[in-house]
Amino acid sequence: MDQRQLGHSGLTVSPLCFGGNVFGWTADEATSFRLLDAFVDAGFNFVDTADVYSAWAPGNTGGESETIIGTWMKSRGNRDRIVLATKVGSEMGPGKKGLSPAWIRTAVEDSLRRLQTDRIDLYQSHWDDPETPFEDTLGAYKELIDQGKVRAIGASNLTAPRLREALEVSARTGLPRYETLQPEYNLYSREGYEAELEGICRENGLGVINYYSLAAGFLTGKYRSADDVGKSARGNGVVSKYLNERGRAILAALDEVAGRHGATPSQVAIAWLIARPGLTAPIASASKPEQMGDLIAAAALRLEADDIAQLDRASAY
Ligand SMILES: NC(=O)c1ccc[n+]([C@@H]2O[C@H](COP(=O)([O-])OP(=O)(O)OC[C@H]3O[C@@H](n4cnc5c(N)ncnc54)[C@H](OP(=O)(O)O)[C@@H]3O)[C@@H](O)[C@H]2O)c1
Repeated sequence: MDQRQLGHSGLTVSPLCFGGNVFGWTADEATSFRLLDAFVDAGFNFVDTADVYSAWAPGNTGGESETIIGTWMKSRGNRDRIVLATKVGSEMGPGKKGLSPAWIRTAVEDSLRRLQTDRIDLYQSHWDDPETPFEDTLGAYKELIDQGKVRAIGASNLTAPRLREALEVSARTGLPRYETLQPEYNLYSREGYEAELEGICRENGLGVINYYSLAAGFLTGKYRSADDVGKSARGNGVVSKYLNERGRAILAALDEVAGRHGATPSQVAIAWLIARPGLTAPIASASKPEQMGDLIAAAALRLEADDIAQLDRASAY
């Protein structure tokens, strides 16, 4: 399998990243282990999570996903073969959120403990924190990099002006810079990334690891009518956000392209992302072992220029 350089981070990753928000939510520990085993057995090495995953599931408090990944790496003895990305900044309890140096110093220790490791390969700011100057946040990250607890840093959900500002602060001060961006991006949600962020990432050689690659399952084609909401715990949200005229046009194009390749809509939706210049590795998840075949096959699917043009047209915004 082709490996890709993750921007200038020094990390080398598979062209698809497994998204860990399902662990402890729609995938219990045993299922999570099977999903992760299948992923690495197929030659992939890149796993993304966050301290807060999966706090929204009933009975959870956050940290469940990191705990499952940590237990899995320990039991498989494979920490050195995994490129591990996690995040800080979401609320982990009263006053426990944001990107202040004090919270980052605490949160990183919590993540390292749950992950049962001494280092995080890519530590990302989950959300912007306008109340903390970039100098302070990046200064805290510098400490962690100097201590060997973090290898590189990235940002998620930053607007274009704020990403530019963060990069300028790094250039001016010599503090570490965000080497990666994790934006929402998929065939349905294109504008937010393509309008400005994509250009900034390409100009600055940032790695791009987009989330919601399958639009939370919509681009698999399993939601075709309102009756399909029951297909997943996520069904209601997916149908209300994506099942409209434009969404249906995108599914129709996915069906056609998939038909030409003997593939599935999921595989084509991910292959379209992998083919996009400047994009390093889409993040996608699966909650059941039988869904893994599509993720694995997607990385091997090569779309033709005509396929990409058809998908671009159907998803024009
Ligand atoms: N930075 C951020 O703010 C942020 C926000 C959101 C997500 N993320 C990252 O992105 C990752 C991916 O996000 P996501 O899981 O929400 O979205 P996704 O990758 O767009 O959707 C994946 C979901 O689609 C369904 N699916 C996958 N393969 C399938 C198949 N072959 N057939 C049928 N259904 C299939 C599964 O859900 P079902 O259980 O419904 O079947 C799976 O959990 C997360 O794990 C996280 O790492 C980051």
